[in-house]
Amino acid sequence: MKKTSITRRDKPSASATGKTMLVGHEVQGYGHSVRHPLALSGAVCNASIDLLNQLLADLITLRDLYRKHHWQVSGPTFYPLHLLFDKHASEADELIDAVAERVQTLGGVCIATGADVSELTIIPRAPKGREVAADQLARLLHAHEIILQEARAMIAESSKLGDDGTADLITSSVVRQGEMQVWFLFQHVVPSTK
Ligand SMILES: [Fe+2]
Repeated sequence: MKKTSITRRDKPSASATGKTMLVGHEVQGYGHSVRHPLALSGAVCNASIDLLNQLLADLITLRDLYRKHHWQVSGPTFYPLHLLFDKHASEADELIDAVAERVQTLGGVCIATGADVSELTIIPRAPKGREVAADQLARLLHAHEIILQEARAMIAESSKLGDDGTADLITSSVVRQGEMQVWFLFQHVVPSTK
């Protein structure tokens, strides 16, 4: 395969380092937290931040899988799946925003970009090429099940720590939306009972 001729820049260009632009200066490092007056200990907040960042990486990966499949789906069910994948991706976007903002609320630093997500996610990487619709659905269902399993473990952990806000967010948003999306996907793969 031909390699791109575009060269990667890890450092800002000279034009971006003018006196008025501050580049590369972190005000809070990843993995460091700031205590907010939430009546939660630093240890509890740090534990929740770690859980939420893991969940965030997996939700962003799931959202990206939906976008990939929205663009690349083919076959006789192209149109309904094209629309369904788009709807689920948009719903996942709202969830991602809520989870990322929960990390910030707890005084942490949320992960945000693809490179950081790929380091953290536990969802298997999809091929760059297109897959048939049945494989797209199977891949999405598998990703959902990974997230549901980890989300339920996180609810138990957050509840035990006394972080009810995090437990509630994961329960009412991540688990309930995930279960609903699984239902919609699964109707495309279950054989008719008659
Ligand atoms: Fe689109």
